[in-house]
Amino acid sequence: MELLEGEKEVIKTQVSEILGQHSHHCENLVPMLQEVQNKLGYVPELAMEKIADALEVPAISVYSIVTFYNQLRLNPPGDHQIKVCLGTACHMIGGQIILNSFERRLEIEEGETTLDRKFSLERVACVGCCAIAPVVVVDDYVDGKVTPTRVDGILLSFENNSNGVKKEQEQKQGEGKNNE
Ligand code: FES
Repeated sequence: MELLEGEKEVIKTQVSEILGQHSHHCENLVPMLQEVQNKLGYVPELAMEKIADALEVPAISVYSIVTFYNQLRLNPPGDHQIKVCLGTACHMIGGQIILNSFERRLEIEEGETTLDRKFSLERVACVGCCAIAPVVVVDDYVDGKVTPTRVDGILLSFENNSNGVKKEQEQKQGEGKNNE
């Protein structure tokens, strides 16, 4: 993914700090990658290259480790993180179709982030709201019984408003109270 202005310098600084805190042995590779993830929110290609050079291991080995560990991300988290539940209940009732709808609309695949870094998209296992399957979680907002036609509305509300649907709903609730 293309780096934003100034990001290259931040990555270099953070990685050299991490490299300075560990001996350059292979057993420190995973802890180093975890620290990169903690500091930057993901493990950029540049960080993998720097670590591979320092530890004198092939860059492809570092890349394989990053793809192997679920908690390590190859792409930066978006401003809004969309999680589509593909646990059993959601999967049975169309979760995959919802995920595909987000992929088409955002022009990215699951695990990726849009070029403007506004949205990232991932699949998750059961989030504990099976009664309202299929479920989508955007940041801390949970939306249930999602249909493909609802996907545009969800995205629009977060595109136009940093608090997205949550704020929209709060406003509706407020209006409801005022009408009582
Ligand atoms: S399977 Fe999706 S909320 Fe349980």
